[in-house]
Amino acid sequence: MLESQDLKLFSIHFWYEKFQSVALKTILIEIPPILLQKLQSDESDVNIEEICPHEFVTEVKNAINTLDKNVFVKNNWHAPMDAKMFSFGNQLKVTNLDDLSLFLSASNIISEDFSTQSSIPFYIALKPWKSIHPASEFRCIVVNKVLRGITPRDWPTYYAHFKDEGPVIIETLSNFYKENIADVFPKRHYTFDVIISFPDQPCIIDFGPLNSKTNLYAFSWKEISSLFDKEVPEEVAPIFRYLDSDIGIMSRTDAIYKFANAFT
Ligand SMILES: Nc1ncnc2c1ncn2[C@@H]1O[C@H](COP(=O)(O)OP(=O)(O)OP(=O)(O)O)[C@@H](O)[C@H]1O
Ligand SMILES: [Mg+2]
Repeated sequence: MLESQDLKLFSIHFWYEKFQSVALKTILIEIPPILLQKLQSDESDVNIEEICPHEFVTEVKNAINTLDKNVFVKNNWHAPMDAKMFSFGNQLKVTNLDDLSLFLSASNIISEDFSTQSSIPFYIALKPWKSIHPASEFRCIVVNKVLRGITPRDWPTYYAHFKDEGPVIIETLSNFYKENIADVFPKRHYTFDVIISFPDQPCIIDFGPLNSKTNLYAFSWKEISSLFDKEVPEEVAPIFRYLDSDIGIMSRTDAIYKFANAFT
């Protein structure tokens, strides 16, 4: 798990305020101790309405209504992706308190996060549900405060339009990073996730740590970590790495192997 300073910096309750105007709208609600205890002890059947204080239940219900009963839930750091299989239509969509109870209690990702000793208050983060096209999601890799890599999060999948749109994607994300993130996010090395739906400006989904456990999709940790002690001019353009041909089903390792180190 993250070190305590990183736990704080990558927690949405910490970064959201600073990036509110360029991030997906989020309603943050602090988790009451009784719910925290149940989730920490990995109880499979938690009924939020039965066990939680009335004010919390009302706040959550109001938030779900404000978001038109089409909600995506996370904790401070993660979404309960491992609870997807229990959901209707394999979608982590929250429409009521029962869905929320189910996703939070079925997820090991959530209970593991909540079991870390931390002085940080634990939250649920409720966001409007979006039908996100997989080709519109990117992870951006920042090393020494410079945006160095852009990778599709749907990897390795071939999208023909990346070839034509690549330069626009690079320019859009470089400008977005410089204007909104570079001078504000308080770390030297990190990742940020965005969705792009032209002609709108990119929208921040999340920030995350950059270390050997980070999912770098099209990049390898070896090539990214080699950039840590390299000084580069700030104007260096990031590399957008995508599959440039439809080569059939490819494993992640095969796909990475296909590329030589492009940073040299
Ligand atoms: N508001 C939303 N509505 C619908 N789907 C969403 C929403 N936000 C995220 N998703 C989907 O869920 C996936 C996981 O979301 P997100 O990246 O926020 O979770 P995470 O736990 O931080 O993941 P990671 O551990 O990879 O950083 C996204 O790739 C996206 O496809
Ligand atoms: Mg994340």
